[in-house]
Amino acid sequence: MSRPVIWIPRRLSDATLDRARRDYEVILKDEDTAGTADEIIALSAKVDGMIPCHSEHFSADVVGRLDPRLKIVANHSVGLDHCDIPALKSKGITVTNTPDVLTDATAELAMLLMLGAARHAVAGDRVVRSGAWDFWSPAFMVGKQVTGSRLGIVGMGGVGRALARKARGLDMEIHYHNRTRLAPELEGGATYHDSLDSLLEVSDFLSLNCPATAESTGMMNAERLAKLPAGAVLVNAARGSLVDETALVEAIESGHLAAAGLDCFVTEPGGNPDFARFDNIFMMPHVGSATVKTRDAMGFRALDNLDAFYRGETPGDAQ
Ligand code: DGY
Repeated sequence: MSRPVIWIPRRLSDATLDRARRDYEVILKDEDTAGTADEIIALSAKVDGMIPCHSEHFSADVVGRLDPRLKIVANHSVGLDHCDIPALKSKGITVTNTPDVLTDATAELAMLLMLGAARHAVAGDRVVRSGAWDFWSPAFMVGKQVTGSRLGIVGMGGVGRALARKARGLDMEIHYHNRTRLAPELEGGATYHDSLDSLLEVSDFLSLNCPATAESTGMMNAERLAKLPAGAVLVNAARGSLVDETALVEAIESGHLAAAGLDCFVTEPGGNPDFARFDNIFMMPHVGSATVKTRDAMGFRALDNLDAFYRGETPGDAQ
């Protein structure tokens, strides 16, 4: 029996590519650039499955033009906001993601953003690196102490809970808002807020760890940012679309927010050039899950889903 043909548009980890080549006929893109709508549509007539990342967009329009040969989109991402899932499903295409395996790496990055934003990592690194460090005083680069502060977490799924566990190591007082309250063993002593607004009021640090959906898009708007305590720090390692970036610039510029730590932006790749003038916005280029261990785990999880599909089973992460 001939092996299924799989398109892998991005450069996945070596271990993932080795395993994929062992079990499938693999088509790779020549360059590690985001697969365009035209490429996705053209390739759908040549392959049985795809392993895209969040950089490949399966909008309703793209899905409507896919060839019936394509039967599975085994995403190499936990987020699925790049996929119109109802459209894919109605076309009979199985959609999977890679939950759980990137939880710790993403929570680590959220912690880095929180600490880096709170302690002037951008300005501090630059002044030393540039050779311009010619001054010291007790009043120099005074930041906001993370230890013992209140951390508000929006979205207490895997990443939110992993961040809470790490933050407890810093004696942070954990508060959260989630669609549903967690069982006590998962809550781990965190305080539940049944409304986002109530959470905002107590969040010295606010971390966004929820998916981007129609309801959460633009969630952190001017009104919501104003509800954070003066001097709060906003952290976003989830999706850029959760934040109204114009409102965030205003909140930073006015001094209402002390700082922000961002791994995600409305425009990716690229980010928001308006943010660059603020040293108190500490930024990373959407690399929350970018560790060797996690990249292998994500690739293997996507392949596990493909393998299950080709064994005639429903993949564990089928949507
Ligand atoms: C995810 O898995 O959704 C991360 O954002 C990386 O794509």
